[in-house]
Amino acid sequence: MFVFYLLLSVYIVCFVLLGWIWYLIIKLYTNKHFRECPPCVPSCGKEKKIMIDYVSELLNKSSKSLIVVDPGCGWGGLISELAKNFPKHTFIGIEWGAFTSKIAKFRTRKLKNIQIIKQDFFEYDFGKCDIIVCFLMDSLMEKFGEKILNDHKKKTQTIISNSFRIPNLPLAEEIKTGKRSFFKNVYIYKL
Ligand SMILES: C[S@@+](CC[C@H](N)C(=O)[O-])C[C@H]1O[C@@H](n2cnc3c(N)ncnc32)[C@H](O)[C@@H]1O
Repeated sequence: MFVFYLLLSVYIVCFVLLGWIWYLIIKLYTNKHFRECPPCVPSCGKEKKIMIDYVSELLNKSSKSLIVVDPGCGWGGLISELAKNFPKHTFIGIEWGAFTSKIAKFRTRKLKNIQIIKQDFFEYDFGKCDIIVCFLMDSLMEKFGEKILNDHKKKTQTIISNSFRIPNLPLAEEIKTGKRSFFKNVYIYKL
């Protein structure tokens, strides 16, 4: 009986995963708006580790409380992992997807130092944040860079981008992952 339920669960998980991949593929090919917006694919593997290590070092070094923002936080995997490890700093995830933002809110409900905002991040003021971690999409990066520059005040800011360059921001460092896949390398910008 146990084996039956185990196999059934594996079957259901595979079915849902396949359905989700097909949904992404069909939307990518049929919907222009979707092609211009990054789909909900979470940071993972080497890139995620590099981003977490880099942000952790900055947070550990800082004597004052910093604000870290993840524009397009998806299910909140990246930002919640950071928030768990650094209770004295503040974390904000912005996600416009109704269902996705609900999942992010639910999984972070016990953390007091994190806020999930359901909003278009192009309407958010990035001027107050110290660190921005993002995983977006090539076609969006220039517009995103412009937004960061427009909102920028005197504050020092570090922007960490998974896989995609921000062409109009000054590159401070490129951390290569040595991968050949579509998602690779992490780009660091300082303002
Ligand atoms: C590739 S996922 C990144 C998830 C997360 N940042 C991570 O690294 O694990 C991009 C997310 O950005 C969201 N998104 C795209 N454009 C957005 C916008 N203008 N405002 C808010 N969220 C947006 C998508 O719904 C998607 O969930």
